[in-house]
Amino acid sequence: MKQKIAIIGFGTVGQGICEILLKKSNFLKTKYQYEYSIVAVADMVYGNVFNPEGLNIPTMLEQAKARQKFTKDVTTMDNVTLIKECNADVICELTFTDLKTGGPAIEHCRAALESGKSVVTSNKGPAALKYAELKALADKNEVSLKIEGTVVAGTPVINLTEGPLAGCEIHKIRGILNGTTNFILSEMEKGMSYNDALKVAQEKGYAEADPTGDVEGYDARGKVTILANIVMGTKLDISDVSCKGITSITSAHIEEAKKQNARWKLIGCVEKKDDGKILASVAPEMVPLSHPIAGVMGATNALTFSTDLLGDVTIVGPGAGRHETGFAILTDLLNIYKK
Ligand code: HSE
Repeated sequence: MKQKIAIIGFGTVGQGICEILLKKSNFLKTKYQYEYSIVAVADMVYGNVFNPEGLNIPTMLEQAKARQKFTKDVTTMDNVTLIKECNADVICELTFTDLKTGGPAIEHCRAALESGKSVVTSNKGPAALKYAELKALADKNEVSLKIEGTVVAGTPVINLTEGPLAGCEIHKIRGILNGTTNFILSEMEKGMSYNDALKVAQEKGYAEADPTGDVEGYDARGKVTILANIVMGTKLDISDVSCKGITSITSAHIEEAKKQNARWKLIGCVEKKDDGKILASVAPEMVPLSHPIAGVMGATNALTFSTDLLGDVTIVGPGAGRHETGFAILTDLLNIYKK
């Protein structure tokens, strides 16, 4: 049976997952017998559309590229009504991240789960601020809540810890958790100005809708909170994570690091101490070039999990981007379909 999907937020990631599904439909059908139909899309720029038999996604992608509103299957239903009333099995919540209130994404997730629909999201708002409540709602309604795309895009992190690393206890997670800032720091080292590097990061779809979230460290702080609560089982509030971004790093700092055989990286860390105390932080650090993390450049991220049974396990991969994050949505959709 086809998986019926609704996409809430047709921005970088929303369009990215649609492009992937179109491009890989034959592969997905042959390899996993996976078939899908996108029945609803909601977007504050392009409008809300619904067709229970499936929308014309190629035309919608062209319209979005031309910054034109959708013209076919237009509905007057607002987002929450559409989520509740449409015939989707899975709602992909891909609106902008708001790490202060979580809105409007939390409301979208609640509406989906309450109406018996699974949720897949790369939105850090619901995951960092309300995961426990939303997971309880998902369990109560016997549906799934999948959030792989909230941390390090499609590079497996949440699924890695819940799958292959499931038998390990993880007492520390440390690494580069934001693609935009790692890209900016990498480009500044090559001589580009901070402002130009940020502009390129925005053009490439790495940065948040409001890039303050990246450069001030708030995006990485959201991810540290998600990792602490979901992977390490703590009860951390986002405000418990100390946070400093990269806005104070100048070309002079970068030159100074070079002289010291080091490189600036924005490092996120959460650690469970022996006495049970949790330490969590985001801050720029001068990392010696001899350290493996120092060689991770551009929008690539890297995370080291310190475990009881395996010691340190490090994963390196894309941390941001249209198809890189779209891929995370695909893995969650497939996992729900296989259930
Ligand atoms: N803006 C984020 C980053 C996107 O640069 O890492 C992925 O969460």
